[in-house]
Amino acid sequence: MHRTRRLRKTEGIRRLVRENRLSVDNFIYPLFIEEGENVCTEIVSMPGVFRYSLDQLHNELEEITNLNIPAVILFGIPTHKDEVGSETWNDQGIIQKAIQYIKKNFPDLYVITDVCFCEYTNHGHCGVIEDGDVVNDATLINLQKQVVSHAKAGADMVAPSGMMDGMIQAIRKALDQEGFYNLPIMSYAIKYASAFYGPFRDAADSAPSFGDRRTYQMDPSNRLEGLREAEIDEAEGADILMVKPALSYLDVIRDLKNETDKPVACYNVSGEYAMVKAAAAKGWIDEKRVMMESLLSMKRAGADLIITYFAKDAAKLLNKKE
Ligand code: PBG
Repeated sequence: MHRTRRLRKTEGIRRLVRENRLSVDNFIYPLFIEEGENVCTEIVSMPGVFRYSLDQLHNELEEITNLNIPAVILFGIPTHKDEVGSETWNDQGIIQKAIQYIKKNFPDLYVITDVCFCEYTNHGHCGVIEDGDVVNDATLINLQKQVVSHAKAGADMVAPSGMMDGMIQAIRKALDQEGFYNLPIMSYAIKYASAFYGPFRDAADSAPSFGDRRTYQMDPSNRLEGLREAEIDEAEGADILMVKPALSYLDVIRDLKNETDKPVACYNVSGEYAMVKAAAAKGWIDEKRVMMESLLSMKRAGADLIITYFAKDAAKLLNKKE
């Protein structure tokens, strides 16, 4: 008989043979920053997550840094939207101001910016529209303007999420030309056209006003296509490769981990957060255990970095144990 239960008998031996461990070091916490003043609005479908104006952000940042969470990723909610999302490259825009504010007051917090247009365009799509679809190459030029503006404001890393072809190459080139050759790019390399983004689009006010994102985000049926996407982004100069969403795509995270020697990130998205919160509010699941088990599954699948709205809750548990 093979007695595999021998190595499960006590917490001592379970600790010794444990293969994967979550750490606060893995977490990136998303922040929604709204232009204006006195904004501190809880997002209805994402309990515990708020939209803040800059004047209300201090306590949140203090909590994040006290919990030892190393990084945040910023999403902007501007007052002014237009056809092309020109606020994204305004040096006085909400994200640029947020970067400056955070780097001034919390210099050690690592600031990543989401690089996209959907929160900034009046149609809610991730680029310039022509004939009812996003035009790729015109969007690349605007992406270049956006990243340079983020870099000048002091961003530590940029994370393009628009799934445009050639976006990593275009961004790398623009950053290098401006002297930001040391600024890393985390690519949303494998991003699916997912229904799990629903709560985020409410939070960021970024739902497309017509059509959907299926001409640029990936078909959830496809696995090999994800590897092709990641290979291209790696060749174009991405430093970190991301899979999004996470929970329904753990197979894709593992595929990518087996193929690349770059760090792998995953995005535990808004709908995944909302499901756990909703079931827990009904008393149907144990929220803390389900949260930790899901985050652990991402790590086991091969994610080195985890972007998650659970970062603070999970950090509280992990810090307690250490
Ligand atoms: C695009 C972007 C989206 C998310 C992150 N960046 C939305 C989308 O593609 O529609 C979703 C994140 C989440 O659901 O938590 N700027």
